Amino acid sequence: MQTENTIQSVRDILKPTRGAGRIIGLVPTMGALHIGHISLIQAAKEQTDFVVVSIFVNPTQFGPLEDFDNYPRPIDKDIQICEQNGVDLVFAPSVNEMYPAKNITWVEVEKLTEPLCGRSRPGHFRGVATVCTKLFNIVQPDIAFFGQKDAQQAVVIKRMVADLNMPLKIVVCPTVREADGLAVSSRNKYLSQEERKDAPLIYQSLSSAEKLIKSGQRQPEKIIEEVKTVIGRSNLLQIEYIEIVDAETLERITRLSGRILIAVAVKFGSARLIDNILVDAS
Ligand code: PAF
Repeated sequence: MQTENTIQSVRDILKPTRGAGRIIGLVPTMGALHIGHISLIQAAKEQTDFVVVSIFVNPTQFGPLEDFDNYPRPIDKDIQICEQNGVDLVFAPSVNEMYPAKNITWVEVEKLTEPLCGRSRPGHFRGVATVCTKLFNIVQPDIAFFGQKDAQQAVVIKRMVADLNMPLKIVVCPTVREADGLAVSSRNKYLSQEERKDAPLIYQSLSSAEKLIKSGQRQPEKIIEEVKTVIGRSNLLQIEYIEIVDAETLERITRLSGRILIAVAVKFGSARLIDNILVDAS
């Protein structure tokens, strides 16, 4: 496995790989790799011939009061995880390599970035779309792999790729969960012991909502009420949003039908966690 820090060296390595007709897979990450990322690497290994993992904590997707400075950066451990999981190339650029000058060119996806996390994180998806475009231009993958845990991000990136005719496919892999249901996330590290004990309530609330839908409930308010009740069992959790939206347009729905996304964002002190489930309500 090779680890490179510059755009030029990545291009130099990938040119002959592409020339030899090998299918290139990209797993974009911000490091602090966990089993969720490993599942993306595994999918990339199954579906492509040459797997690139990018490790870059992207400053342009963090708001001024967010955790950019404190975001975990265990780079040696991350490289080891990539090596152990059969990655071919790690691209771990510096901020200066990715943004040598103050950025004045942005990729902005409208509408889909307004609801859900877009409301409390202005500029976040502009940073994500811009850095993913840069990574796609640098690596030129045939397929890029994202996790369903960041449902809105996956929808935004898919739409950006379609709207801008980017020549790659986006694969979205299922959310990986701890044994108690908590969605695996680099930000779970921020939870205290007490908070970690209550954190499975997030997924429990989504599972209860799903049960309600399966039993015939079609009124979004009733389902949101159920999610609120389950999360309300902990007084450590503060709800930022509970939303039921169309899985593709992310528009709020008034009566459940078709493929819907139930998404929640909660705060535990300074830690903000998100989770979601896709349900077929037809
Ligand atoms: O999901 C993430 O880790 C990041 O948003 C991504 C896609 C690597 C862009 O920085």
